[in-house]
Amino acid sequence: YEDDQYTHIHGSRRHHGTLMAEEAKKLAAYAAVDNHIQNNQVVGVGSGSTIVYAVDRLAERVRQEKLNIVCVPTSFQARQLILQHGLTLSDLDRHPELDVAIDGADEVDAALTLIKGGGGCLTQEKIVAGCAKHFIVIADYRKDSKALGQQWKKGVPVEVIPMAYVPVSRAIARRFGGEAVLRMAVSKAGPVVTDNSNFILDWKFEHAENWKEVNTAIKMIPGQYR
Ligand code: 5RP
Repeated sequence: YEDDQYTHIHGSRRHHGTLMAEEAKKLAAYAAVDNHIQNNQVVGVGSGSTIVYAVDRLAERVRQEKLNIVCVPTSFQARQLILQHGLTLSDLDRHPELDVAIDGADEVDAALTLIKGGGGCLTQEKIVAGCAKHFIVIADYRKDSKALGQQWKKGVPVEVIPMAYVPVSRAIARRFGGEAVLRMAVSKAGPVVTDNSNFILDWKFEHAENWKEVNTAIKMIPGQYR
């Protein structure tokens, strides 16, 4: 190919891939809302780009079917989505027991172990999911893997208290290998600051198998919020 021809073809292929991914997210999100949300439920609303489609569909159903749904957000983004769609906003003070929480994921392995937190909202997502009777994860084909790390290459997100990011990072690497890197902001100098005013470490692990054990061990490190 001539250079500009190649760029054109290459560019449109990439565009096609993005369109497919968006369509997959939308289909999965609509199916999750249609199959798992019923009238008179308190619903936890996750964060990320897939959940946007789920909230679109939820708002459509609330309008069309006149559903009575109360929404508990897992982030600033989720709160905005709920408000923008005219849905009923609540919180864990008023609704500490949820019927269902619905959220995206970065990767899902064969045992349904998840990597979450690509969007940086993992702590509140986990709290809200922990209050729900059912946790529904919307994951399209790109997130499906046999073992974690096959699809998601950015590491396991771990939220940390800012003053503890170096000790926590060192403790993770010492115990399990790999490297836990401070996530830096893109349109701001310095680190990403979470909705809880914390930092995020992305742990690029070399190999890990017993995720239950790894999760518990990381949770025991003072300063982490995972
Ligand atoms: C945010 C999350 C998201 O659910 C996860 O990152 C998936 O995001 P997306 O739907 O944009 O792929 O855990 O903290």
